[in-house]
Amino acid sequence: MSKTYKIAVIPGDGTGPEVVREGLKALKAVSKISGFQYDLKQFDYGAERYLKTKEVLPDSALEEFKKFDAIYLGAVGDPRVKPGILEQGLLLKLRFGLHQYINLRPVKLYPGVWTPLRDKKPEDIDFVVVRENNEGLYVGEGEFIKKGTKEEVALQVSRNTRRGVERCIRYAFEFTRKRNKKKKLTLCGKTNVLTYAWDLWERTFNEAAKDYPEITTDYAHVDAVCMWMVKKPEWFDVLVTDNMFGDIITDLGAMIQGGMGIAAGGNINPGGVSMFEPIGGSAPKYTGKNVINPLAAICALEMMLRQLGEDKAAQSVENSVMYVTGKKLKSLSAGKMGYSTSEVGGLVTENLR
Ligand code: IPM
Ligand code: MN
Repeated sequence: MSKTYKIAVIPGDGTGPEVVREGLKALKAVSKISGFQYDLKQFDYGAERYLKTKEVLPDSALEEFKKFDAIYLGAVGDPRVKPGILEQGLLLKLRFGLHQYINLRPVKLYPGVWTPLRDKKPEDIDFVVVRENNEGLYVGEGEFIKKGTKEEVALQVSRNTRRGVERCIRYAFEFTRKRNKKKKLTLCGKTNVLTYAWDLWERTFNEAAKDYPEITTDYAHVDAVCMWMVKKPEWFDVLVTDNMFGDIITDLGAMIQGGMGIAAGGNINPGGVSMFEPIGGSAPKYTGKNVINPLAAICALEMMLRQLGEDKAAQSVENSVMYVTGKKLKSLSAGKMGYSTSEVGGLVTENLR
């Protein structure tokens, strides 16, 4: 008897529910092909619920999520809610509360997808960013001094712990080994200016590297990484970096792989429950129009299947996505795909093998 996966679904805000629906359609189809079982439980956390109850995510929800094998998230963010409330109260609370200390973001140009990088082909753009997801500038530590006066100072602390940095770096080494492509891991930092944080990162990186002699290591400052991501993305295999730099370079990564219509991410707790999401946000202006691209959510589903150990199913989802980008869609942009949201989901589902 195969295992029944327990999957929590948070469709969330804006176009979240529309794209999650397409992801779940693909899940249903691929589970039949691969022969695994799953149970879904839907949660209504997000803007609507917050506006009604003034509660974003109760602590009891965190406890409940711990009983699942994975969480599938649509999007958070709504123009009616002050920026930061849902992002911090829902997304970051889940990432921190469930100790999802890795944010995994593949940057892969699929066949037929337009990239703003002229002359770059799918074989040139294929790397993964391992972003630390529980520390750095995201910890919310800091203070105002003399707030509201001309002498005001605002401090925002970047917290980097040896434990947090090391588990992230070791995850990145293991990941590079398993990925088995160029076997190259690049540390993306800023050792020339941020001399406390990046000293710790660099020492930890060099020590861990000794345990992975087969992996080529490299270091680049974050500004240079941005430059090389545009000029020579083929240099990268796996990048490891902190929370803030990772946030920034993965949006650049999303653009060179074809945009928010395709970019997905996984918030990973290797020993606990991980959460998978399209990284494009809730795209409020497209809500309910059936025009948004569901491929990012479907790619998030693929990542979830890999994390669950259903590699065959994950691969068949990825193959089908590549078939659809290569042979069917005119563009990845909302409204310009040549198909509706549900039709794109249908194409992926029909072409699963
Ligand atoms: C992301 C997003 C989030 C982040 C926001 C919504 C808090 O930009 O997942 O990259 O900064 O991590
Ligand atoms: Mn971001």
